[in-house]
Amino acid sequence: MGWRGILGFEYGIVQAPLGPDISGPELVAAVTNSGGLGLLRAPDWEDPDRVREIIRKTRTLTDKPFGIGVVLAFPHEENVKAILDEKVAVLQLYWGECTEELVSAAHKAGIKVVPQVGSYEEAKRAYDVGVDAIIVQGREAGGHVIGQDALMTLVPRVADLVRGRGIPIIAAGGIVDERGYVAALALGAQGVALGTRFLATEESNAHPIYKRKLIELGETEYTNVFGRARWPGAPHRVLKTPFFMQWRDLPSHENESTQPIIGHSTIHDKEKEIRRFAGPVPNGSARGEVESMAMYAGQGVGLIHQILPAGEVVRGLVTGAQHLICEQAKMVA
Ligand SMILES: Cc1cc2nc3c(=O)[nH]c(=O)nc-3n(C[C@H](O)[C@H](O)[C@H](O)COP(=O)(O)O)c2cc1C
Repeated sequence: MGWRGILGFEYGIVQAPLGPDISGPELVAAVTNSGGLGLLRAPDWEDPDRVREIIRKTRTLTDKPFGIGVVLAFPHEENVKAILDEKVAVLQLYWGECTEELVSAAHKAGIKVVPQVGSYEEAKRAYDVGVDAIIVQGREAGGHVIGQDALMTLVPRVADLVRGRGIPIIAAGGIVDERGYVAALALGAQGVALGTRFLATEESNAHPIYKRKLIELGETEYTNVFGRARWPGAPHRVLKTPFFMQWRDLPSHENESTQPIIGHSTIHDKEKEIRRFAGPVPNGSARGEVESMAMYAGQGVGLIHQILPAGEVVRGLVTGAQHLICEQAKMVA
């Protein structure tokens, strides 16, 4: 059962890493203290000191184990070394090759490796290099979306693939409540990774306007309008904000590099200019035209009606799923 936990954690609930620095120490500690697995997000550039700083800050807020996510499409080698030195519990990887060398170095440091994949082929490659669990991302997901398949078909395929070795499968994409959690378990997952639901919590570092939009707006779109110059070929799912709807047909030759500066944001302690159509979502420090910045969200956003404490989200998923499974067992008895 999912609530028996995965990877040594109390529950099978994972708070997805939220870039560029939305899942900071406060959110990660709140999830971890509630029995889930919280994941920090490393910077998109080499900054091992910052990596150490956020890990150590998290350790002041929880004495339970937690993890950190690295996007392999960006410079990361020094950051990974710092992560291995700090011996966090879990290294989550995305958007790049999870090599046997990396898995073996992490294992030597006592760290579990959990890549997020978006296809059967990618899952197979990860499985073959000996990862400890696989996050299977469906196209329903918020933020960058690496594959085309829906969770409904991809999770059971990957579950069949790993059955022999029994590593946990974690479903990600559009899951916000106990119904999604139980559905994922039925498809063969042992855990769930939630991004948008944890974005809309008190402890997330999302800007208050972004949080408000997550409650107000229920629709998303799969697009490539944002961050084309910095991260080409990386489609993403965003909220249908008025700004996005005005620009959703942006001609393919346009990108953020030639656009006006619409605001500023402090990302991992670095002051950044935000141009129109840039990739970073507004964090708590964002200034300027916040409503015109990218706002990632998954298809489940229409089920989110309240900004909640993250611990309440974890507890609601667990008790809700236990109740739902009992009710469903009665229906088929
Ligand atoms: C604002 C935001 C930022 C994200 N940043 C990352 C990231 O840095 N690394 C990563 O592996 N996934 C990232 N994701 C994707 C999540 O890992 C996960 O696949 C997704 O949130 C699941 O779908 P959901 O948002 O519907 O729960 C992000 C998602 C959102 C919404």
